[in-house]
Amino acid sequence: MAELPGLVANHLKGIRTLIIAQLTDLHLRTGGELTFGKVDTAAFMSAAVAAIGRLDPAPDVLLLTGDLVDNGAVEAYSLLAELLAPLEFPVRMLPGNHDARDAMREVFASTDYLPASGFLQYESDIGPLRLLCLDTLVEGKTYGHLCAERLDWLQTRLAERPEDPTVIALHHPPCPLGIAMDSIGLVEGSEALEKIVAMHANIERVICGHVHRTIHRRWAGTMVTAAPGPAHQIALSLESSQAFRIIMEPPSFHLHVWRPDTGLVTHACLVEDFPVAHEVRV
Ligand SMILES: [Fe+2]
Ligand SMILES: [Fe+2]
Repeated sequence: MAELPGLVANHLKGIRTLIIAQLTDLHLRTGGELTFGKVDTAAFMSAAVAAIGRLDPAPDVLLLTGDLVDNGAVEAYSLLAELLAPLEFPVRMLPGNHDARDAMREVFASTDYLPASGFLQYESDIGPLRLLCLDTLVEGKTYGHLCAERLDWLQTRLAERPEDPTVIALHHPPCPLGIAMDSIGLVEGSEALEKIVAMHANIERVICGHVHRTIHRRWAGTMVTAAPGPAHQIALSLESSQAFRIIMEPPSFHLHVWRPDTGLVTHACLVEDFPVAHEVRV
């Protein structure tokens, strides 16, 4: 995996463009084990990495927003490192509820961005865009927390550069999304986070995973965008009493494209290639 250069820029029709590819909820298992006994998440991840590797222009960074592995096993993180190895652009990752901080650190210790101790929170400069990654993991629990220490870190980082376009990334959605999974969302720290985010108009977006669906919500003066997974998704359930149904909707990822004239624009992308039916030149 390449490390981030000081300033990375793609060029699209002469306009400086910055691209974050977001993959989330990989739920990797090793040794041919299937997630839920049915889903070959390693094969799905391999296909997703290949699709992202073929993107033209290439992303400036691939961001993995948690549930990287299914059971926090060191071997599964090693498999993740193997799958990511062919990529020629930098990777950043943060933990979800299926992850384990120590195992993640053990395998990715050589990276220069994961903190050596404590919560896995850090910032990355991606060209003109600032990326702040949060750690909502409560080990052994499905829901997420942001305690005072983690929120103070965010507040301090935001206060340092109040003008710079910023993306905040975390695994659990920062607020309720009106779905059954809200019960296992960010159950502590959501209201405090909302107050912090609302004070900073330079926050382009809050991006997350966990819900295995594309969902958008206006919140705290910005947009929250949840991404689907490269393997299984979770069926839409608007009633809190409904069970979470794992379904095999198409494997997907998000591309967040920033330009000075548009700000951040998010594109929902399918891993699968589809044939061209007609082409119109403009
Ligand atoms: Fe997940
Ligand atoms: Fe999750």
